Amino acid sequence: MSSCCCGEAKIDYAELDELLKPYVGQPSALIEVLHKTQELVGYLPKEVQIRVAEALGVSLGEVYSVVSFYSHFSVKPKGKFKISLCKGTACYVKGSPEVLDKIQEQLGIKAGDSTDDGLFSLEVVRCLGACGLGPVMTVNDHAHGLLKPDKAVGILEGYRQQV
Ligand code: FES
Repeated sequence: MSSCCCGEAKIDYAELDELLKPYVGQPSALIEVLHKTQELVGYLPKEVQIRVAEALGVSLGEVYSVVSFYSHFSVKPKGKFKISLCKGTACYVKGSPEVLDKIQEQLGIKAGDSTDDGLFSLEVVRCLGACGLGPVMTVNDHAHGLLKPDKAVGILEGYRQQV
């Protein structure tokens, strides 16, 4: 994927077609192909889903139902700040569900989604390897631990002000 002068992501269809080539006519490869496609493009907009459906020989509805079922897949580009909140066991018992609720409420999105201004995307992950500091989230590659709902919101506000 590359960016044009306005910063908007441009999809490289030649590269995408190259990726799809070995899977033509193989409906059973759908999930694997969607993973690889998201790695390549960064997200799975409708025009990309159509391309995948045509190549594998499945309906667009089938592609869409897989994309919407797995929170790992995103139909919007990732935000400038990628939030990964841990819901592994240690973080869960120390309150990550409340932190998640607050972040979702504050940003107006659900896990797996991105804000319309393109600033934040949110995903829920399993164990970030810092259980003693739970609840933990990373924003891009920076870890923030011992979260409380209000503390998490304050941290995100700090990122917003960097822009
Ligand atoms: S369970 Fe959250 S960092 Fe390990």
